[in-house]
Amino acid sequence: MEKKNIDWANLGFGYMKTDYRYVSNFTNGAWDAGSITEDDQITMSECAGVLQYAQTVFEGLKAYTTEDGKVVVFRPDLNADRMIASAKRLEMPEFPKERFIDAIDQVVKANMAWVPPFGSGATLYLRPYMFGINPVIGVKPANDYQFRVFGTPVGPYFKGGAKPLTIKVSDFDRAAPNGTGCIKAGLNYAMSLHAIVTAHEEGYDENMYLDPKTRTKVEETGGANFLFVTKDGKVVTPKSDSILPSITRRSLIQVAKDYLGLEAEEREIYLDELGDMAECGLCGTAAVISPVGKIVDHGKEICLPAGMAEMGPVTKKLYDTLTGIQMGKIEAPEGWIRVIE
Ligand code: PLP
Ligand code: COI
Repeated sequence: MEKKNIDWANLGFGYMKTDYRYVSNFTNGAWDAGSITEDDQITMSECAGVLQYAQTVFEGLKAYTTEDGKVVVFRPDLNADRMIASAKRLEMPEFPKERFIDAIDQVVKANMAWVPPFGSGATLYLRPYMFGINPVIGVKPANDYQFRVFGTPVGPYFKGGAKPLTIKVSDFDRAAPNGTGCIKAGLNYAMSLHAIVTAHEEGYDENMYLDPKTRTKVEETGGANFLFVTKDGKVVTPKSDSILPSITRRSLIQVAKDYLGLEAEEREIYLDELGDMAECGLCGTAAVISPVGKIVDHGKEICLPAGMAEMGPVTKKLYDTLTGIQMGKIEAPEGWIRVIE
C-alpha cells in the first residue's frame, strides 16, 4: 500500500484531515452498529449538550509502524477502560470496550496510507471521543450521544523534540478537590487554556499544576503526567486523585522495574522536594517522555542537574525502552501491543 506523500520527519503535533473516521450514535438507549465514513463534518442542534454544558470525553493513543513493517497500537484496552470511567463520571453511556478496540482497528486499517513509516519519528495519533448531541437546556445529561474516532499523523508534541523544557509553577488550578481531574473530559482542558496561553506568553513551555487543596504537591501539566528521577536513581511519579491516570506513566513504572531493574514508586511529591531530583520528564501519549530542564516557582529556579542540553540518562533509558517496545525493537509485556491486520 502506497503511503501519502508527507514530509513525515518534519510533522509537528497538529490536525491533518485523513481519509476515514469511525462514527457510532447512541439513541433510544442503545448504540447503533457504527461504521467508517469519509465525512469529517458533524451537524448538530444549536442546543446540543456538548455545546451548552461541555458534556464530552476523549482519549488519545497512537498507531506505530514497527521495525518489521507491522502496524500496531499500544494498550488500547486501557484507553477503552479509561473512557468508560470518564463517561460514567459525566453521566454518559459506556462505549463497550470490545467495540472501542474494534473502532480503533477499523480507523487504522482504513487509514494505513497515513500511518507514518518506521524510523520517520512520526506516528498516527488516534482520537476517540464522545459527546452529548441532542438539545439540552436545563442542566442535565443528554439522552443521545455520538462516539467518533479519527486519526491524524503527528510528530513531537513539543517543538524542538527532545530539548529540555522550562516549566512554570502555575497559580491556576486545573482541577478541583473531588472534581474531574482524574478523567479525560474536555472541560479539564478548557480550564487549562488561559493558564497555558499565559505561560507561553511568559516564555514557558508548560505549567506545573499543584494539588488544588493544599497547593504544596506536584500534580501534572495540562497534557502529561510528571516523572522524576531522584538523586539516588529511583523513579517517582506523583500520586493524586485529581490527575489523569496516564497509561504512559503506568507503563513506564513497569518498564523501570522490570526492564531496567530500577526502584519505581507512585507517591505524593512535594514542591519543596524538587531540589532533590536529578531528572524530570513529562509523560503521555503525545509527550512520550519530554525532558524538563528547569522548573520556575515564582522567580525561584529549580534547575535539574540533567541540564538544558539533553535528556537525563535514566529518562533516556526509559524513553528508549518504551519506544523500543512500541516500535517492535524490544519484546513487549504480554498484552501491550495490538497488531492491526
Ligand atoms: N495528563 C493529561 C492531562 C493528559 O491529557 C494526558 C494525555 O493523555 C496524560 C496525562 C497522559 O496520559 P496517557 O499516557 O494515557 O496518554
Ligand atoms: C494525549 O497525550 O493523548 C493527550 O491527550 C494530551 C493532549 C494534550 C494532546
